[in-house]
Amino acid sequence: MKINKNTVYLDNAATTFPKPRAVSEAVNDCITRWCGNAGRGAHPLAMASAEEIYLCRERLAQFFGGRTENTVFTLNTTYALNSVIKGILKQGDHALCSNLEHNSVYRPLYKLKKDGIIEFDVFNALPNLEFATPDMILSSIERLVKPNTRLLVCTHASNICPVTLPIKEIGSYCKSRGIFFAVDGAQSAGIYPINMKECNIDALCLPAHKGLYGVQGCGVIILGENISLETIIEGGNGVDSLVGDMSADSPERYEAGTLSTPAIAGLRRGLEFVTSTGIHNIRTHEEKLCRQAKEGLLTIPGIKVVAPSREGSLVLFRHDAIPSENIAAELGRQSICVRAGYHCAALAHEALGTPKGGAVRASFGFFNSKKDIDKFIDAVSGITRSL
Ligand code: ALA
Repeated sequence: MKINKNTVYLDNAATTFPKPRAVSEAVNDCITRWCGNAGRGAHPLAMASAEEIYLCRERLAQFFGGRTENTVFTLNTTYALNSVIKGILKQGDHALCSNLEHNSVYRPLYKLKKDGIIEFDVFNALPNLEFATPDMILSSIERLVKPNTRLLVCTHASNICPVTLPIKEIGSYCKSRGIFFAVDGAQSAGIYPINMKECNIDALCLPAHKGLYGVQGCGVIILGENISLETIIEGGNGVDSLVGDMSADSPERYEAGTLSTPAIAGLRRGLEFVTSTGIHNIRTHEEKLCRQAKEGLLTIPGIKVVAPSREGSLVLFRHDAIPSENIAAELGRQSICVRAGYHCAALAHEALGTPKGGAVRASFGFFNSKKDIDKFIDAVSGITRSL
């Protein structure tokens, strides 16, 4: 695949691109100058990695209102969500998730149900496409809660439409009912503020490589206080090597195997980038691009924008007659990168009433410009005239 300087990247919901220079410099510095294996040895390179990992934990905890020792590194957000869902649910439990979930939430729940371990229900986070109050969503949750509901897990922001869930209100409700509250921050971290304490979040799962502008190969779980999950993977972590059990202490309990120190070094600089740029400025910029894209798309005959009155970091659309995959493929041939299909989010597409074949998603990042959107709109317009 030829990548040229005119490539327009509008798939930031899948992974942000490009990364801030400080991120690539940190990754490069790590792998060329000091990357040992943290906790495996007391030599300078192992110590350098341990120090970097600690600093990143500390910054993440500060940023999301958690505790350093409860900040756990994983392989990615899916791994983080699996660890939480499978680590908290036990035989006979009931769980809830929203109808906007990604498969990273839906599939672990589905598997536990299929194996006869749990039951789960899906609440309606989209009672009205154009407008929904927290109370409307809370009532759809309330209707499904059972005496054995142990977990409510939901996304903060949908990966296919500009909808966020009221996590503060949901968290407060879960606290009042003694329900463990887990949040998938895959699409919101770095774009919308999240505070674990204010939102009563028991487990927050995050990617390094999306809105926090780190690189792929690293996810994060931040656990609330006094939480202990069953482990889903066991192995070496450099402590208590003579003992068969995983340590009871966080983060070691959940970090079996070598961590991706280069990705963690990048994540720390990504987080610095987000902090110095300002979440508000990032969001405002992306919402402006979203507005421009939506307005442009709405002028093209045959194009339908999903939830046109909502604003966020992405826009979802389709054409009456041209399959979404064909639009995305043609955009790709013109060096415009978008994602079509179901975006690993069948539940959410069903909630939105997407027809067979899915829809096209253009998702924006801080490094996109107005000019990128102009090119995208011109290209979609040309495709609808020619196909
Ligand atoms: N979950 C990512 C997306 O929506 C990969 O594209």
